[in-house]
Amino acid sequence: MKWIFLACLVVVVRVNAQELLSGEKALGSQSYDDFEKPEACYSCHVDIYMQWRQAMMSQSYTHHWDEIEYFDLAVPHAEKVPDLKGPVDGCNGCHAPLAYLAGDVTPPRPSEGSRANEGVSCDLCHTISAIKSDDRYPYNFSYVSTPGRIKYGTKEGLESPHHVTQKLDIYGQAEFCANCHNEKNPFGVWVKSTQIEWLEGPYSKEGVPCHQCHMPKAWGQNAKMAQEDMVAQHLFHGAHDPGKVGGSIEIRMHPTEREVEYDGTVELKLQLFNGKAGHKIPTGSVEDRILWLHVTAVDQEGNEYHLPVDPKGFDGEEYTIASDELAYRDMGLPKGIANFKGVARDGVPVGDRIFRMPYLDPDGFMTIMQWNTARLGVDYRIGPRETKIETCTWELPDDIPPGKVTFKAVLNYQKLVKPVADFLGVPADESEIMVVNTAETWIEVYE
Ligand code: HEC
Ligand code: HEC
Ligand code: HEC
Ligand code: HEC
Ligand code: HEC
Repeated sequence: MKWIFLACLVVVVRVNAQELLSGEKALGSQSYDDFEKPEACYSCHVDIYMQWRQAMMSQSYTHHWDEIEYFDLAVPHAEKVPDLKGPVDGCNGCHAPLAYLAGDVTPPRPSEGSRANEGVSCDLCHTISAIKSDDRYPYNFSYVSTPGRIKYGTKEGLESPHHVTQKLDIYGQAEFCANCHNEKNPFGVWVKSTQIEWLEGPYSKEGVPCHQCHMPKAWGQNAKMAQEDMVAQHLFHGAHDPGKVGGSIEIRMHPTEREVEYDGTVELKLQLFNGKAGHKIPTGSVEDRILWLHVTAVDQEGNEYHLPVDPKGFDGEEYTIASDELAYRDMGLPKGIANFKGVARDGVPVGDRIFRMPYLDPDGFMTIMQWNTARLGVDYRIGPRETKIETCTWELPDDIPPGKVTFKAVLNYQKLVKPVADFLGVPADESEIMVVNTAETWIEVYE
């Protein structure tokens, strides 16, 4: 009798412990000690650990730009606007999940070496037992965290001396990533929608989840004592890997006429094809990122000319053609600068086409503070397998010498617009210019 009673109790306790808490409800529901440190996994999963260490996943709390945006903009903003406290604590649900689950918000600075620094750790990911979202899509750390001896994955029946393993289908699905790669802000705006973009694009229909491009499988061992098999590489390479960004868009360019009279006009057509990404480019931190097309001509004598893109006339196009106007004035509030006029919006040559989606603050000005985004502007990014066509119409300069004129198109990418990076003192690597692709063509000028 006593045993039966005990057995019942155990069941009840288990059900309680597994009460599905996700998102904001999970704040403070665990303690740091419930999670194993990544170094514990390293002793057996050497390659996976070293890959993760080099990926942004392990730096989601400690990386310089994350620290600057969180501590210099988000936290001070929430001190001035108390309603923002919840959403700003929520940054940690994705960037410092252990701290969030332990209720340690605002977490200590990275320099203090707390366990917030583990970022998106092995044990955080591998003890997610369900997804619980109140929307059609997983978003805002909608994972259910159940730390303990069971480590979940996509493989059936694996044996480990350190833990129990269990297969769970979500680990092979894009929805798993969507827990953190879709984000809705306090205004109800989707400020991150990588999985939604993927769902609307061709790759979801073909059954190609995020994993195939960001965790590709290769033959080898996944643990020291394991049999060889196809193993998911924990690369998580994205915008911080020039090789991943490079070539993601292909460009070709042609003139509509090869021979042009010295007082004629040249029309160039450019095709930009997103052949490599499963979502739009840029995706993710779209408020920070720009992709821009710079076209130049060089004549027979070596003179160089800049060709601005032709406007197409769609609504909101002004955000997609580089200008030197100011933007991002809402940074003034958290930075404590009265009547802040903002910094340059783009920091790239005026007239170049920018592929981006502007985030607009409640006053209608562009912002990089995604939590302060009241609406999104025109979406002029390049979708998965989409091809966009741009044109440049160029009246030949009066003094152009006859002969060959060569055109060069360069598609550049920047993780964070340079004027913002400079203003906030973000180290240069975050605003370095990455070349995505180039194209060339030519015309002959005759007299
Ligand atoms: C003492 C060695 C050892 C340690 C420590 C260890 N593992 Fe494992 N793990 C294994 C072995 C062995 C396997 C099974 C490998 C196989 O047969 O393919 C495994 C398998 C796994 C799997 C695959 C599960 C599946 O079903 O697909 C995951 C996930 C995993 N470990 C996560 C972790 C995490 C997270 C840690 C640290 C908290 C960790 N492991 C620590 C040895 C270890
Ligand atoms: C962002 C979440 C995430 C993090 C962080 C993460 N993993 Fe994984 N891991 C996954 C997913 C998802 C899979 C399944 C991939 C698949 O099968 O396509 C996986 C698979 C594995 C496997 C089985 C690989 C195989 O194919 O045999 C092991 C072992 C593993 N992870 C261990 C670790 C260890 C150790 C760490 C930390 C060093 C870690 N993981 C960090 C999400 C994560
Ligand atoms: C627990 C939350 C969480 C989950 C689950 C998660 N990620 Fe992430 N991921 C993050 C965070 C936070 C970052 C940003 C790191 C930083 O601060 O730059 C990130 C960064 C990345 C990057 C690097 C982007 C760059 O800018 O270089 C890639 C690629 C990525 N994740 C892919 C995935 C894939 C694929 C999955 C699913 C298998 C996944 N993530 C699951 C939270 C998560
Ligand atoms: C067909 C391959 C492919 C698929 C599928 C794919 N990606 Fe990517 N991903 C890429 C490439 C290529 C890049 C680099 C270009 C870029 O930055 O967009 C990238 C970049 C990223 C970045 C960094 C973007 C940035 O600007 O910071 C993140 C985050 C990311 N992917 C997450 C995901 C998630 C989550 C999924 C699934 C919902 C996914 N990816 C599906 C190929 C893919
Ligand atoms: C729903 C999960 C989630 C929430 C909530 C979230 N982030 Fe992120 N954050 C991510 C992911 C995923 C990425 C990586 C996307 C990419 O690479 O484009 C990211 C990227 C970033 C980056 C850019 C990192 C880089 O190196 O380029 C910064 C900075 C950042 N987040 C700060 C914040 C702040 C501050 C908050 C709170 C106001 C916040 N995040 C809330 C998931 C989240």
